[in-house]
Amino acid sequence: MLKTKILLAAVAVTALASAYGESGLKPDAKTVKAVWRDSMVAKNQAGLDRLNQTALEKACSNASDNVASDTEREQLRQAATNSVVYPADGKFLGDWQRGEAIASNGKGMQWSDDPNKPNGGNCYACHQMSPGEVAYGTVGPSLRNYGMRGRSEAMLKYTWAKIWNPQGYRVCSHMPRFGDAGILDEQQIRDVMAYLFDPNSPVNRK
Ligand code: HEC
Repeated sequence: MLKTKILLAAVAVTALASAYGESGLKPDAKTVKAVWRDSMVAKNQAGLDRLNQTALEKACSNASDNVASDTEREQLRQAATNSVVYPADGKFLGDWQRGEAIASNGKGMQWSDDPNKPNGGNCYACHQMSPGEVAYGTVGPSLRNYGMRGRSEAMLKYTWAKIWNPQGYRVCSHMPRFGDAGILDEQQIRDVMAYLFDPNSPVNRK
């Protein structure tokens, strides 16, 4: 009886070890994927296709922030850089007040959001911007006084590209790919840009 119990315990430990990887603490990718798929339910606009990863998402998930090799990282970075669509009319800056509303709006793309309403940018979830807003996240750097960097073409293009697809500057960045993933449209990005650069925007005022 005791022997059977020990044997069963050994089998259970082996099963767990194979499911949770060598360390016994970190589940392997296959287990994580299975848990994801089993726990997701398609609802309204949030379909199970959301679980289909792009090459970049796959690389970043597999290696948690460290893609396999320098060559792969460079390929992914280049692809992200090539994905950027600059404004056809050359106008990078829109209306900062509309930009503030977009930066403060955390709605969009979830099953409970109205797909007919424009998405928000949710920038405050990760960035400090206007000093008047005290509820901000710190996952990203502070963007306070961003306009101090000036409005050279290089600066405008850098910022546009960063918002369109941040992976072109940092592969496996945690910032959403606002343009590339279709979260914000061209005009919304112009407005958010104005919020960052306009001298009258609260981002650049005391
Ligand atoms: C989920 C977190 C997250 C959200 C949401 C987010 N960002 Fe970021 N952002 C980051 C991180 C992290 C960085 C630092 C660089 C990197 O890792 O890509 C960054 C960097 C930046 C930079 C470059 C900063 C510099 O010093 O050059 C800009 C500009 C920027 N974000 C703008 C925005 C705007 C505008 C929005 C909203 C439309 C936004 N971010 C939403 C996480 C986020």
